[in-house]
Amino acid sequence: MTHIHLPDDTPATQVAVNPGVAIDEWLTVPVDRIPEHGIPGAAAYQIVHDEAMLDGNARLNLATFVTTWMDDHADRLYAQAYDKNMIDKDEYPATAAIEARCTRMMARLWNAPGDTVGVSTIGSSEACMMGGLAFLKRWKAARKAAGKSTDSPNFVMSSSVQVVWERFCRYWDIELRAADITLAQPVLTPESMLALVDENTIGVVGILGVTYTGGYEPIADLAAALDDLQERTGLDVPLHVDGASGGMIAPFLQPELVWDFRLTRVHSINTSGHKYGLIYPGLGWVVWRAKEYLPDEMIFNVSYLGSEMPTLGLNFSRPAAQVLLQYYAFIRLGWHGYRTVQGVCQRVARHLSSAIGAMAEFELLSDGSDTPVFAWRLADDFDRGWTLPMLSDRLRYYGWQVPAYPMPAAIADVEVMRIVVRNGLGLDLADKLIADLRASVADLDEVDATPSTTPAPRRAYHH
Ligand SMILES: Cc1ncc(COP(=O)(O)O)c(C=O)c1O
Repeated sequence: MTHIHLPDDTPATQVAVNPGVAIDEWLTVPVDRIPEHGIPGAAAYQIVHDEAMLDGNARLNLATFVTTWMDDHADRLYAQAYDKNMIDKDEYPATAAIEARCTRMMARLWNAPGDTVGVSTIGSSEACMMGGLAFLKRWKAARKAAGKSTDSPNFVMSSSVQVVWERFCRYWDIELRAADITLAQPVLTPESMLALVDENTIGVVGILGVTYTGGYEPIADLAAALDDLQERTGLDVPLHVDGASGGMIAPFLQPELVWDFRLTRVHSINTSGHKYGLIYPGLGWVVWRAKEYLPDEMIFNVSYLGSEMPTLGLNFSRPAAQVLLQYYAFIRLGWHGYRTVQGVCQRVARHLSSAIGAMAEFELLSDGSDTPVFAWRLADDFDRGWTLPMLSDRLRYYGWQVPAYPMPAAIADVEVMRIVVRNGLGLDLADKLIADLRASVADLDEVDATPSTTPAPRRAYHH
């Protein structure tokens, strides 16, 4: 087989003097149509590379939960596997076996009682949707079997859920019943949950690592309240734990916290391999406590080693490299290695939050003691004219990307800033960040900080 190669030998710096080619063609590339003719690979590379330089520095992006650093071995593995498609189980049986192995490791990490079922996904969003779909289908089957209507399903969670749950409810025509959080009560509680649950509730979502603040919802209390509800009324409402970030923190840093399959009410759990699973973007996991909780109709068979292998997911093709990386990270770090990495992140988060919490301008909403994520707002008595979006902009001048955004629904008038501490942000960088934050505050104090009549634009930062 021959691959078609276009000439690749013209260095980008020489293209403008290449005779016979119109200068304009070398100086601009179209942005709204595929150009009629190609250009040398070196030039195309340089153009794309140069434009991508305008993105922020990923390591200084303290907004993202997603892994921005892996070691050299991982980088090598990644480069060797970028061409593999996860759905081709028959063609890549070793990768398929490694996926199954990782799923079992996840299930065991979350104290699954026995034979479980789970799968890798493109991220937590897909994993959450799979968990939600299993709830919807099981609820419908039970209602139909009881001769009852399936017209009005609802899903109960707090208003601080990540946008994937809103998306799921909208896409599948489910009523999202959100319990409003407040500053005093920033999580779903048994009371706020029970006030919303009824016979049309397909399930409840508890969040282990709220996106806005990094804090844990009280999963064991929610589970106990649902157990009690079943005893009193017969209503059997399952619980899904959205452990997008906390699912890979709690087992290592708070192993005594009971939030996982040790609670029989917990039917399914998701996490993002690409967050505290420590893998580059493009990997999530969902696990059910036992096979019976995953409806058969969600499973599709693909061919595998001459027979069939069950698969499930919203996507068909997707990269397999991240799954190999997850296995690499598991065996490279082991349980103690993960504990060390997460523990260091937490120490750095606590160091940062205590410095920021000590500044008179700010008040902490969380301090990084659940997941290594914390958020703060302006103190009630702050009256110096500048806002957190302005501070966020100012920090960008120093290279840092720290988002400012409004809290959800009932407290949307409260603006906060949040830092996600990831592997790679050490104490020395953290100290630099604290110094730059103080300098930014001084900068803002120095300029005319009289509040303008037009309020600062609201950030379109999405959770
Ligand atoms: C609690 C929670 N759930 C779900 C998601 C979506 O995860 P992903 O980006 O892996 O799709 C996030 C992302 O931040 C999250 O924090």
